[in-house]
Amino acid sequence: MRMTVIGTGYVGVVHAATMADLGHEVLGTDIDEERIAALSSGTPPVYEPGLQELLQRTVASGRLRFTTDVASAARFAPAHFVCVGTPQQPGAKRADVRSVEAVVDALAPHLGPGDLIVGKSTVPVGTAARLAERLRRTAPQAGLAWNPEFLREGFAVQDSAAPERIVVGVTSEHDEEVLRELYAPMLRVGVPFFRTDPSTAELVKVASNSFLATKISFINAMAEVCDAAGADVIMLAQAVGADSRIGPRFLQPGLGFGGSCFPKDIRGFMARAEELGVGGAVAFLDEVDAINTRQRTRTVELTGRLVGGSFADANVAVLGAAFKPDSDDVRDSPALAVAESIRRRGARVRVHDPEALDNARSAAPGLQYTLDVPKACEDADVVLHLTAWPEYRAIDPAALAPLVRRPTVVDARHTLDADRWREAGWSLHAPGRPQPGE
Ligand code: UGA
Repeated sequence: MRMTVIGTGYVGVVHAATMADLGHEVLGTDIDEERIAALSSGTPPVYEPGLQELLQRTVASGRLRFTTDVASAARFAPAHFVCVGTPQQPGAKRADVRSVEAVVDALAPHLGPGDLIVGKSTVPVGTAARLAERLRRTAPQAGLAWNPEFLREGFAVQDSAAPERIVVGVTSEHDEEVLRELYAPMLRVGVPFFRTDPSTAELVKVASNSFLATKISFINAMAEVCDAAGADVIMLAQAVGADSRIGPRFLQPGLGFGGSCFPKDIRGFMARAEELGVGGAVAFLDEVDAINTRQRTRTVELTGRLVGGSFADANVAVLGAAFKPDSDDVRDSPALAVAESIRRRGARVRVHDPEALDNARSAAPGLQYTLDVPKACEDADVVLHLTAWPEYRAIDPAALAPLVRRPTVVDARHTLDADRWREAGWSLHAPGRPQPGE
């Protein structure tokens, strides 16, 4: 089938390439000309494992093309996936849906009977209904559905090709049929398909992200209690997670969540619930947010104690800038926030990251950056392990020790081999875990 994808951020590009790989003829559009030029030659706009290969394969097949002309895209296909961003409004918790509205307005005059707009962007519940009303004025015979996206950065290609579920919020049999046909190869291999109304589909997305964020903040709250009680949050998480009703995933304590989704989605959800008069029902998300932010402050405070109470003249090495491993995304990155906060307090901070340095440099130009781990750690008074890149686990602590001023490391992600670092002479601090001898 023919389809378009409007907005070529990480969701849009991955969706477009995945659908072309399934055999559809896909036209991707974006207002960013440079991005469209790069995509047309098979270069992805973001670092995402497997994406470059997938993009090159589908562009070479001729089934995936890109344009900046939304009007020609509108005429190209009967189904249009909207994948534009919905950022948090500055100074408010609410999501900004103006880009989604603009896309619907741009498509509407070109749509005919049976044509379908499918929203993928994360939006406040009720947006689809409002947009459908707007669409009825210019394109009364076109449909509007909501089909949230659950892919994770770092696993986007595999999540998109083999999703755990497909959720479609539709208002007609016809619209459901179009989506069933587009996803037919996935449905044939048994991917669960949930047909709902558009409001439920919109809510599935924010409810899922809220649940996951709550699970992370729950275990981080337990880490704080463990610190106060001299208990071990890693053992606690393993034993609690062994209950199959709870499960071990998203129960990893550490520096907390970041990225472009969880923080903004839980805030947007609270704002929308308040508008609906049910703010109290999700007021706990404020606490989830506060616990999450506190993990950053706790790490800064711990670092302050480890450098003797004053950051002036301290050298701090930071391992990791991305909000999580296998991503070059630094949006609301806990690692970068900690690094910046320490720099503002007067320390010299040198940051290493294998993929995110370009993005980090433009987001936080005051920090020093290097692509070399030993260089980042040279003369450091403390080394902070803030993003769980696998290569940090492979660091030889014995080889690193002679380079630093003091062999002190904070493992804020709990993925370093603590025994190995301690045997190599390091003082290793892991929030939520007792120090040996405590
Ligand atoms: C998240 C969801 O997992 C996706 O399902 C959703 O589609 C996406 O948001 C979105 O709304 O677009 P993503 O932000 O890529 O995906 O990242 P996750 O892997 O979910 O991690 C989010 C954050 O939580 C990261 O900062 C990660 O380090 C942190 N985290 C995760 C923990 O601190 N502990 C854990 O146990 C798990």
